[in-house]
Amino acid sequence: MRTLIKDLFLDSKKFLNKEVEIKGWVKSLRKSKAFSFVVINDGSCFQDLQIIVDQDAPNYEEVSSSLTGTCMAIKGIIVESGGRQPIEMQGKVPSIIGKVSEDYPLQKKKTSLEFLREVAHVRARTNTLSAVFRVRHHLAQATHKFFSDLGYYYIHTPLITASDAEGAGELFRVSTLDIKNPPKTDKGDIDFSKDYFESETFLTCTGQLQAESLALSMGGVYTFGPTFRSENSHTSRHLSEFWMVEPEVAFADLDDVADLGAKYIQYLIQYAFEHCPDELAFFEKQYQKDLQETLKHVAETDFKKITYTEAVEILIKSDKKFDFKVEWGSDLQTEHERFLTEEHFKAPVIVTDYPKDIKAFYMKLNEDGKTVRAMDILVPGVGEIIGGSQREDDYEGLRNRIKECGLDEKDYSWYLDLRKFGGAPHAGFGLGFERAIMYITGMSNIRDVIAFPRFPGNASF
Ligand code: 4AD
Ligand code: MG
Repeated sequence: MRTLIKDLFLDSKKFLNKEVEIKGWVKSLRKSKAFSFVVINDGSCFQDLQIIVDQDAPNYEEVSSSLTGTCMAIKGIIVESGGRQPIEMQGKVPSIIGKVSEDYPLQKKKTSLEFLREVAHVRARTNTLSAVFRVRHHLAQATHKFFSDLGYYYIHTPLITASDAEGAGELFRVSTLDIKNPPKTDKGDIDFSKDYFESETFLTCTGQLQAESLALSMGGVYTFGPTFRSENSHTSRHLSEFWMVEPEVAFADLDDVADLGAKYIQYLIQYAFEHCPDELAFFEKQYQKDLQETLKHVAETDFKKITYTEAVEILIKSDKKFDFKVEWGSDLQTEHERFLTEEHFKAPVIVTDYPKDIKAFYMKLNEDGKTVRAMDILVPGVGEIIGGSQREDDYEGLRNRIKECGLDEKDYSWYLDLRKFGGAPHAGFGLGFERAIMYITGMSNIRDVIAFPRFPGNASF
């Protein structure tokens, strides 16, 4: 049975002078006459294990001339080390599990993140990507623990849907029709009643509407799954397939879920400090100065909360030259969000009560008739990380908004029913999981925090 390098370092005393077997990939290999230094990483933790293989060991010639990336198993004795790490291994029986060919792309010590995206099938062998994916794992665990401890149930909402839940028209079609020769109606339109689901269907862009149905039965629920958007955004913050965490809470209002969102982000940060200290130290050294201090401060400080109208006032008063003009009624652009979080507040900020015309149909209308009970949580470096709202729980109010937004009431009949069949005030939000990982690792491109990113023009791997 192999021993994980993680376990060796977790309790190294326990392993001193014991024989163990390590399996992993060669990070570097230095050969001298009498012995070779082999540095192995098995992905279980940030640290590599240094192994000294004596020339008397079996397979010595082959092992000592192995290339970076070779997959090896080495049996040996764990001993104290005089080097940077507390322990190393005296390798007794090395063997090669998988050789590496000359065209292995990770030969060079330093490779750019852009290059690594082109070899996504092996990039998890690098310090950076494996650290990102370990943090990603722990933040997923943290998510379940956070919501489950609050008594919220983890639910699974469908990925295939017939309705555009955001009303933004950015959906990928799901169809089994012959695209070269689709059936037509009398009017000459494509006849989706002949399609697999006997209606037009898409990949979902949010699980929210179905989560509302379950929140109005179970109280507090959350989804955590992939969502799909065909928006044509070639930015460092957008993916076509991303993971979203969506809590939905009955008997809650906008302030309740704004606080919940802030607490959740703070919890994620604390969890990362507890479970990924080596990774955070690495990201700070390599990618973002002051990362840890900044995160600690955010985890301990209440989030600022301002209305959209106040945000617009701050932006206009700032006298800063923006590419997009700031005026009440238009959406905040990335440059505006960045100014608010990075220059004005120098901290995350919750912006509430946006104009109804720039938000989705399901948000509760305020008494002013112009704004809705929406909130976005913005963070430095990333921008919007959470988008949420109190939902319109008034039947006629919701019908009006569906009409105003040019949507077809028929498509939302079951959703309207929820307002007729024992409705209740309720609210929720969606956190972009990749954006949360970017924020906590300090990585600046969303394509580097998901193993196989999908974005316009790319579905490789
Ligand atoms: O603000 P959004 O569009 O809100 C919703 O979808 C609501 N239905 C959520 C809810 O209330 N249950 O998206 C939520 C979050 C954004 O704040 C952002 O972090 C992330 O999802 N997001 C994306 N992340 C990566 N790539 C994209 N293309 C994203 N679009 C949104
Ligand atoms: Mg949003």
